[in-house]
Amino acid sequence: MSQAPPPDLQDKHLVLGLSGGIACYKSAELVRLLVQFGATVQVVMTEAACQFITPVTMQALSGRPVLVSQWDERAPNNMAHINASREADAVLVAPASADFIAKLAQGRADELLSLLCLARPSERCPLLVAPAMNREMWAHPATQRNVAQLRADGALVLGPGSGDQACGEVGDGRMLEAAELCDELVASFQPKHLAGRSVLVTAGPTFEAIDPVRCITNHSSGKMGFAVARAAAEAGARVTLVAGPVHLPTPRGVRRIDVTSARQMHDAVLPLAPGHDIFVATAAVADWRPLQAGEHKLKKDGSGRPPTFELTENPDILATVARLPAEQRPWCVGFAAESENLVRHARDKLQRKGVPLIVGNLGPATFGRDDNALVLVDAAGERELPAASKLALARALVAEIAARYRPRPNP
Ligand code: CTP
Repeated sequence: MSQAPPPDLQDKHLVLGLSGGIACYKSAELVRLLVQFGATVQVVMTEAACQFITPVTMQALSGRPVLVSQWDERAPNNMAHINASREADAVLVAPASADFIAKLAQGRADELLSLLCLARPSERCPLLVAPAMNREMWAHPATQRNVAQLRADGALVLGPGSGDQACGEVGDGRMLEAAELCDELVASFQPKHLAGRSVLVTAGPTFEAIDPVRCITNHSSGKMGFAVARAAAEAGARVTLVAGPVHLPTPRGVRRIDVTSARQMHDAVLPLAPGHDIFVATAAVADWRPLQAGEHKLKKDGSGRPPTFELTENPDILATVARLPAEQRPWCVGFAAESENLVRHARDKLQRKGVPLIVGNLGPATFGRDDNALVLVDAAGERELPAASKLALARALVAEIAARYRPRPNP
C-alpha cells in the first residue's frame, strides 16, 4: 500500500474573495473543500457579500477571521490589502458579480477586496475569477467587454456554468459548483508542460457483444486513462478522451467520446489521430470478439451443451495509429498491462507496436484501484515511477511525455 498522497493544495495560501450574489451560498462549501485539499484560506468579503452570507459562517469554515474592511484596525500595520495579498499563492474571487468584474476591469480599489486584487504581486499570485450573475447581465456587452479585459490583463475566468438560475431564468451565468472550482484551482497550480499541444487518450475496457445481453470484457476501470486525460488537460493540452464503458466523471475541460466495442473505439480514434500531437493508448482493448454476435439472446437448448462461437481478432488501434504516415502520426504512447515479466513484455511491445514509449504496469493488481506503479520503457532504457495515486502518476507521466515529445514533420 502506498501512503495517502498529500492533498492537492497542501502548503497553498489562498485568498477567497466573495462579492455580492446569491452564489455566496456555494462559497461556504468551496471553503470547506479548499481546506480539505490542504490549503489555508483567508476569506475576504465585500459589504454586498455580507448581505448574502455571514462572515461568521466563513470564519467557522476557514478557521480564520474574515476580512471585510480596509479600515480593519486588527492588522498592526493597518494594511490588510498588502498583508493578505503578499502571503497568497492565488486570489480566487467566487462569486464575482457583474459589478465587481467591472471594478476589476477598471482597476478600481474603493474597498478591501478590489484593493487587494490590484495590490497583489501579479507575477506570482494569479487572479482567478468565477462569475455569477443573471444571464442577461452576463450576456450584456458591457460585461463581456469587462471579462475580455480581465482575460487580457492575465486573469483566469472560470466558467460561468449554464442552467437554472436563482431568478427563475435559464441560461449562462451560474457560478461553477464548488468541486469544479476546486479542480480549476488545483489545475492552475500544475506546470503547463503541454501548453498548445493536443492529446488523444483511449481509456477503459471494451465490450464485445456475444448477444444483446452478454459480452466479453475485462476488469479495466478506466481510472488510469481518465487520470492521464485530466493530467494532460491540467498541463495545458487540448484533450480528447475516447472512453469504453466506464462510470467515471469526465475530467474538466476534456472532450469525451463514449464507445462500447473495440471496433467503435478504432473507428472513433482513426479519424481523430492526425489532428492530435500525442496519442496515449491506455485502453484495455479486448483482443478478440465473437465473429457473429447473436441477434437474440442465446437460449439453453436442453442438451446440457454450452453454445460454441468463433472468435476473431480485433484491430490493434495503437499499432494502426503508429503506422500512419509520419506527417499524420501523433507521438504514440502505449500501455502494457502484464501479470509477469513486465519489462520484457513492455520492451517487446515497444518493438511490435513501433512506438517511442511503452508504460508498463502489473495489470490485475492495479485494476480498479486508485494507486498504481509504472515503469517507462523506451529506446534509452527503463525508468520506474514508484507507487502513488493514479493522478500523481499521470502527472509525472505527462511531464515525462512532454520531455520526450518531438513534433511530427510538416506535410
Ligand atoms: N491496444 C490497442 N488495440 C488493441 C490492443 C491493444 O490499441 N486491439 C493498445 C493498448 O491500449 C495498449 C497497448 O496496445 O496501449 C498494449 O495492450 P496490451 O493489451 O497490453 O497488449 P496486446 O497488444 O493486446 O498484447 P498481449 O495481449 O499479447 O499482451
